[in-house]
Order: sequence, then structure tokens, then C-alpha cells
Amino acid sequence: MLADRLDRSFPGISRISDGKLRELVKAQWRYVSERNPVHTDIEKIPLHPTLPFETYGGLAPHLRSMATLAETLVPVYSREWHIEMPLDHFLVAAYVHDSAKVIEFVMQDGALVGTPGFDHAVEGARIAREVGFPEAIAHMIEVHTFLGKQRLPRTKEAQLLQLLDPMCLPVFPEKGKGAVERHLDANGWKAE
Ligand SMILES: [Fe+2]
Repeated sequence: MLADRLDRSFPGISRISDGKLRELVKAQWRYVSERNPVHTDIEKIPLHPTLPFETYGGLAPHLRSMATLAETLVPVYSREWHIEMPLDHFLVAAYVHDSAKVIEFVMQDGALVGTPGFDHAVEGARIAREVGFPEAIAHMIEVHTFLGKQRLPRTKEAQLLQLLDPMCLPVFPEKGKGAVERHLDANGWKAE
């Protein structure tokens, strides 16, 4: 089952210092894979069914790269601005923020499709609260997708995670719509 292979895909989970948070990361993945057992290998989950795997890679590298950048970002804010943030919260959020995509991506007529209207950020945060994550982490998950004023971060950690998310996607203008343009589309903003 999906949740059993987490450590193999995400060895960085071991660097979450709080053992309870490490357990909750697994609990969250167990929850989503029980809701939709169609996904059995985390390395085979796409970023989205409309983003071809060959071009954009899958979800796992996205999560790993966010964890890697967070491990640089948190010490930089401490060193340069004396702003202390909990690295554990960034690592947890990196590994679970998109976990509800497991529920969102379903099989239909032999093909993987997204569920219309499903908000993986809001649902991911709801599950995070249910399994027992602190509210600060649930909020990071809830607002990690950029939707302009509809979804403003209330904390520095949530703001930085929202900015980190599109930095860890190889969705560039050379291959069609880049991550920035996709965000503008999602907000209904059109070029003049
Ligand atoms: Fe993400």
C-alpha cells in the first residue's frame, strides 16, 4: 500500500525531529490511500493528470525538492534576518501538502482524471486537522495553492510555502504555459 513505501521515496522524513509529527505524516498518507486505493506507488502519481509525466515528472520529486529547499530556506532566514521558523513544520508541509491529490485523481474509463471542483489544499488541511497536526501546519497546507486574495497566508511559514510550491515544478514557458501564467489563469487574470 502507498503509505508503506513512504520511507523509500522520502528518506528525508527521518529528518523531521519530532517523532509524533513523523507518525502523523504517515497517518495522513494512510488516510488518503484508504480513501482511494487506486494509487499504489507514490513514484507513479503525476503532478496532475493533465501534466504529462514524461515532461513534468511526478508528485514525488515535487515533494522532495520542496523539503530540500526548505532545509536551506529556514537557516537563511535565521542567519540573515534572525527570523526563526520551525523546520519541522516546513518538512511536514512539504511531504503532505499535496497528499489529497491521491483522493482527487481517480480512474475513469481506464484513464486517470482529476475530480472537478476538488480542492486538494482545503481537503488536505481538513485531513491534517483530523489526523491531529497542529493548526499552524494545517494552515500552511490550506493556503499552499496561490489563489490571490481568495487565499491569503496568515503566517510567514504559510507565505513562504506558497511561494516555494511553484518553484519546485518544472512548468516553464518554454513548454507552454509556465507556472506563473497558470496561476494568473487560476485567478481569472487576463493579459491586456
Ligand atoms: Fe505542491
